[in-house]
This record gives sequence, structure tokens and C-alpha cells, in this order.
Amino acid sequence: MPDSSIATLPSPVLPSSVATGAPVLRVQGLGKRVALASGELVILDGIGFEIARGDSVAVVGASGSGKSTLLSLLAGLDVPSSGTVELDGTELSRLDEDGRARVRADKVGFVFQNFQLLPSLTALENVMLPLELRGDADARGPAQAELARVGLGERLAHYPRQLSGGEQQRVALARAFVTRPSLLFADEPTGNLDTRTGQAIIELLFAMNQDAGTTLVLVTHDDHLASRCGRVLRIDGGRLVA
Ligand SMILES: Nc1ncnc2c1ncn2[C@@H]1O[C@H](COP(=O)(O)OP(=O)(O)OP(=O)(O)O)[C@@H](O)[C@H]1O
Ligand SMILES: [Mg+2]
Repeated sequence: MPDSSIATLPSPVLPSSVATGAPVLRVQGLGKRVALASGELVILDGIGFEIARGDSVAVVGASGSGKSTLLSLLAGLDVPSSGTVELDGTELSRLDEDGRARVRADKVGFVFQNFQLLPSLTALENVMLPLELRGDADARGPAQAELARVGLGERLAHYPRQLSGGEQQRVALARAFVTRPSLLFADEPTGNLDTRTGQAIIELLFAMNQDAGTTLVLVTHDDHLASRCGRVLRIDGGRLVA
């Protein structure tokens, strides 16, 4: 039987960058310098690359090479000294702090090495927060579902201090992913976890990458993890070397 209903379905409203296959992240001439008493410190210099939608990318390099600084610039958490970051079609340098906050709320999830959950909020409240901040009518339902997805459906009312490190990182993952961001940034997400717990977190990250097509950009010191990513960006002394 021909399914005539298909023809009458409204066409999905997609950002223009989805329709054209444009990169989800486009970085040009990115630099970060800070003034120190001893002179100017160049943290990042002349970084340029593009990341395709749905890709998984590892950012690797020695301690102090500039990985965390780069991730902060890509996510709009910090502003560069030079160059541009175009995130899902929006050039971040054209926006003020409020504008960048809106882009982050709409398009970006961020997972930190030290979790950074709000200690006075329960697991559920932590995950509801980004939905409430962007004005979603129902934050509770999706937040509950997301916590169930990371295996914490029974721990909704628990505060961060009542959860193990691995559990806290799973709450942080649920919080980062509950808005269905185009891009998920993770800065050494397993750095504070034992190998097995870290492995479980990594599997969750890749599942989100696969299932929802979320682009994954993660900083790691783990070669095995880097090799699982579609692409590796190597930073050395603030410059992109591979
Ligand atoms: N606001 C700042 N003021 C001064 N120096 C800074 C500032 N932010 C970063 N740096 C310096 O820039 C360099 C890069 O820092 P960054 O945190 O990006 O390194 P990283 O590659 O993430 O290192 P790690 O692997 O140890 O986390 C370091 O030398 C750091 O001390
Ligand atoms: Mg770092």
C-alpha cells in the first residue's frame, strides 16, 4: 500500500549547515595570549581546522600545551585574542557574553574532569538546570529519562556528595547531553576515575555520538581512547601539529 502520508509530512526544519553538510565547527587563525608581569604568554597560536558533523575528535598533547584553553574557546566559554570560531553556523566573535551563553545553551554540552556539579542541587535538579535555563516547559521528564539512560534512574534525589566519582561524572554527562547539543566537549572526562569506571563513561560518550549524531570533541591523555576517535588533533606548544 502506498503511504501517501509521507508526502504530506512537513519537511524537517534543519539549520542551514545541516542541509549543506557544512562543518559543525570551523576554526581559523585562533590565538590566545595573556599578559604576564614578565611579558606576554602565547598559549595558542594560529590554530585552524574544521570538524564535520557527527565526527569524534581527540585533542592530544603534553600537559600545558593548550588543550583546555582550546576547548574553552571552541565552546565559547572563553574569548580568543585573535581568530574565529564558527559553531554550527554562528561565528562566536560576533556575539556578546549573553549571545554566547545562548549558543552554549542551544548547541553545546561540556563535561569537565572534575564534574562541576552544583553541590546544593540533587542529581535530577542538576540535569534539569540547562533545560530550565533555556526555558523548556518540561525539564523533569527529559532529565529523568537522561539519568535513567546513564544508569542513575534510582539516584534522582541524591546530592553529588552522596554519589561516587563515576556516578557524578554520569550525572555530568546526563546534564551535558539532556539538551541534545550539536557538539559535546569533554576535557579529560575520565581523568579522575579508575580505568573500569572511566571505560563505562567513554562507552556512554561514544553511544551519544553514535545514537544522536552528536559531534564529540574530547581532550585525553589516553592513546587507546584517542585511537577510537575518527580524528586526532595534536597540540604542541600552542600550535596544531597534526
Ligand atoms: N589565564 C591564564 N593565565 C596565564 N596562563 C594561563 C592561563 N590559562 C592557561 N595558561 C597557561 O597556558 C598553558 C596551557 O594551559 P592549558 O590548561 O590549556 O593546558 P593543557 O594542555 O590543558 O594542560 P593539561 O594537560 O595539564 O591539562 C599553560 O602553561 C597554562 O599555565
Ligand atoms: Mg587541561
